[in-house]
Amino acid sequence: MAIFRIEGPVTLNGRVRISGAKNSILPIIAASLLAEGESVFEEVPHLKDVEIMCELVESLGAKVKFSPKESRLTVDPANVENILAPYELVNKLRASFLVMGPLLAKKGQAKISLPGGCAIGSRPVDLHLKGFVAMGASIIYNHGYIEARVNRRLKGSKIYLDFPSVGATENIMMAATLAKGQTIIENAAIEPEVVDLSTYLVSMGADIRGAGTDTIKINGTDKLKGSTHTIIPDRIEAGTFMVAAAITGGDVIIENVVPSHLKPVSAKLREANIEIAEELTSIHIKAGKKIKSLDIKTHPYPGFPTDMQAQMTSLMAKATGTSMIVETIFENRFMHVNELKRMGARIKIDGRSAIIEGAMKLMGTQVKATDLRAGAALIIAALAAEGTSEIIDVEHVDRGYVSIDQKLRQLGAKIERFD
Ligand code: EPZ
Repeated sequence: MAIFRIEGPVTLNGRVRISGAKNSILPIIAASLLAEGESVFEEVPHLKDVEIMCELVESLGAKVKFSPKESRLTVDPANVENILAPYELVNKLRASFLVMGPLLAKKGQAKISLPGGCAIGSRPVDLHLKGFVAMGASIIYNHGYIEARVNRRLKGSKIYLDFPSVGATENIMMAATLAKGQTIIENAAIEPEVVDLSTYLVSMGADIRGAGTDTIKINGTDKLKGSTHTIIPDRIEAGTFMVAAAITGGDVIIENVVPSHLKPVSAKLREANIEIAEELTSIHIKAGKKIKSLDIKTHPYPGFPTDMQAQMTSLMAKATGTSMIVETIFENRFMHVNELKRMGARIKIDGRSAIIEGAMKLMGTQVKATDLRAGAALIIAALAAEGTSEIIDVEHVDRGYVSIDQKLRQLGAKIERFD
């Protein structure tokens, strides 16, 4: 069990460089299975989740080479024969389910352990399966596994997503690239990571139009070639550092970002009286002394991202006045609240809403990371709290943040890791 020990309060100043996006590289590794040859990826973040996804595609038969120092990953799917994604891997990483579309398209079958729920919610995959069935696959549930198979070849279909699910949009889009005929995905997710996946697929020879809008058209082709692709910066890592700068009254330049991907976060931070200047590939945050309270509701992109909700809850504990945060995407994403209350935050949960009484003095203490973004929220709170905080189970944080302690130390934080 790894622990972060953090002394507060500090003021963060300086520059930090953001790594490649976790939620972009994970579907893209799955997509690399569609190719006839090797793909090379740059700006790949060295994260636990990336290691597990590599382990999965290797278990399917792909050849994987990851050089974390160069942030480069190569995947050669030539020998992929196995079509089973086992429980022990899927249980560690729900995103493993994203290999179903590529395996169905390339091999005509897939057997994947039904991804369990996780801390933040039940996380069903019904929309993914609805898409595959519409494209001619038959699905059977067998002892906790989902077995999908198609007789000859997936066929293009028109699919309306009841909810703009990121994963379902990505899984169906990948399957459609090798289907016979045209697939139209309506009410598709428009997150930047969906667009990044589409960019990679098109570079492999896929015929995709409309990624980034709510209607994506894919004309199936017979085969796709390996390609090279540079992963977009991680907008959630960037947003996390923006909030850390804001809560500590700091002055930080965040490099290697796409400012337009951060619009919903920048807009909210400006509303909270934080100064934000956007350059071409960087954002400059200058926090005022006073943080204004906010009302926030999470929504699919370009609404306020659910992956930034926990971090903003920490910030609002220091704002003047009462804030309201509504989590509309996941049913159980307030586990950071009890931990923040141990630090002195005054927060009341009412269903999907958190009412936060601001301007509370946060006190350092022992707290526990329950999931990836809750862990990030506790780090943010600890930076502004009086005294020493110890955050346990920070393995959760390792899943989505490359060397977060090192990056924070560069900005003046007093943070040590103990494994
Ligand atoms: C992706 O998860 C991200 N993960 C999540 O990031 C992110 O929170 C989420 O999108 C929303 O932006 C990756 O990209 C690997 P969804 P995903 O399908 O694809 C319901 C992080 O912290 N739903 O858009 O699983 C679902 O229950 C992680 O980096 C169905 O009902 O998200 C949820 O309520 C956490 N049926 C909502 O849609 C389905 O078939 C959003 O899910 C699929 C989803």
